[in-house]
Order: sequence, then C-alpha cells, then structure tokens
Amino acid sequence: MFRDQRITPQQHIDFSRRFGRLMIHVLHQFHLAGHPEILTVSNILEDGKPIGLGDAGKYWHSDISYKELPSLGSLLHAQELPSEGGDTLFANMHLAYDTLPAALKSAVEGRRGVHSYLAQYGQLQKEGNWRPNLSAQQIAQVQEVVHPVVRTHPENGRRALFVSEGFTTRIEGLPDDESRALLNELFVHSVRPEHIYRHKWQPHDLVFWDNRSLIHLAGGTPDHLRRKLYRTTIEGDAPF
Ligand code: SIN
Repeated sequence: MFRDQRITPQQHIDFSRRFGRLMIHVLHQFHLAGHPEILTVSNILEDGKPIGLGDAGKYWHSDISYKELPSLGSLLHAQELPSEGGDTLFANMHLAYDTLPAALKSAVEGRRGVHSYLAQYGQLQKEGNWRPNLSAQQIAQVQEVVHPVVRTHPENGRRALFVSEGFTTRIEGLPDDESRALLNELFVHSVRPEHIYRHKWQPHDLVFWDNRSLIHLAGGTPDHLRRKLYRTTIEGDAPF
C-alpha cells in the first residue's frame, strides 16, 4: 500500500503496466473516459446515471478469475472517500489453504473449479440498479473457464485456494449438491477472521494487491456518502 499518491490516471496506468499487460473490464460503461484501462468503482450518480460500478466487490472474489488468464494483481487508487465505511477487506488464500482441515484438503486435491463472470450477476441486478444488461458481445467475452481449486503461486511456490463466492459456480466432476456443499465450506473457511486484513482508506491511497494470493470484498458504503476509486487490473498467467 502506498499512501498519499497524487498521481494522474495516466501515471496510474503507466505504473501498473510495469507489471504486465492491463486487462480491459467487460463493463465498458464504467471505463474512465479516455482511459479504458481504468475501471471506475463508485456509488456516485451524475444526472441520475452511475459514473462507475457501484456494487463492485459486493461478493468475495479474485479480480477477473473468470478468464483463462486471470489477474496477477490490481491497483486501486482512492479519488473520493466517504467519512464512514468504504473499507476493503482482503483474505489470505495461502493461509486459507494451509489451515484447511485434512478432510477438506484431500477433497480439493486435484479438483478444478468453474469460474463465471455471470455467477452473481443476476443476483446483483436484483439487489441494486448498478448492473446494465449485458450485450451479446459482452456475454461472448465472459464465457466460463476452469481453474485448479488449489493453485501454486508462480513466484513463491506457495499453494493457495483459488475459489470465491463471487465467481466460482461449481467443482467439476462432482454432483451439484456435493459441489455446492464443498464450495460453501471453502467459502466459509477462506474468510475466517484470522485470514483477513481490513483496509481503511486514506486520501490518495494506492493499494496494490496480488490476486493470486488474496480474495477481496468491498465492505460497503452508506448510500448517502460518495465513494470513488480507479482500478487497473494486470493480467497474470494460467493458474497451475
Ligand atoms: C473491487 O472489488 O475491485 C472493488 C473493491 C472496493 O471497492 O473496495
């Protein structure tokens, strides 16, 4: 985390690019004008229209895990912060794997999970007014993919759980009820309090996290308070 970064969107993009190719979010409606590499995360309405994705991060997730090449990491830069709430929570998925009970560890060994951008999309549409209907082109960009349930970090060799409530819909090769029950156990275990860091934003914070090691959640902002952040997302390699 880097405090007090008074950088422009272009500097945010240029810095992010040092770590890899930037991913362009499927919701082009919420790209920052002139900078498609930046997704605006915001609950602000201008002329009755959202300027950003107001419910980004409402479910635990690893950014863009629904692509063949999920994200290596994301950089979120605070633009406008509420006077209360608006925290971001991170859960350590290496710790989650290391502390899995033996029976769960053997249940996930060698398993693969299905990741889908659409996993919670309909539910999010019901819960709020942030999510536009997706066009056929947008749906074509987010076909579901399969990744190992336990991945190995390519730089430090540590194993991490790689499933999330936000994007993982089922475990391949298991009957639906068993898959759902196993995923629920993994979701609950992943976000035990001792695995979590809660980030309390300060003006101009730039937070850079590793999507191969962490899942994250937007803690929520009271409706009457404004919050706006800019996010870049760096492409990673195929999980193994
Ligand atoms: C996100 O999930 O990218 C946004 C997290 C947040 O708004 O705190």
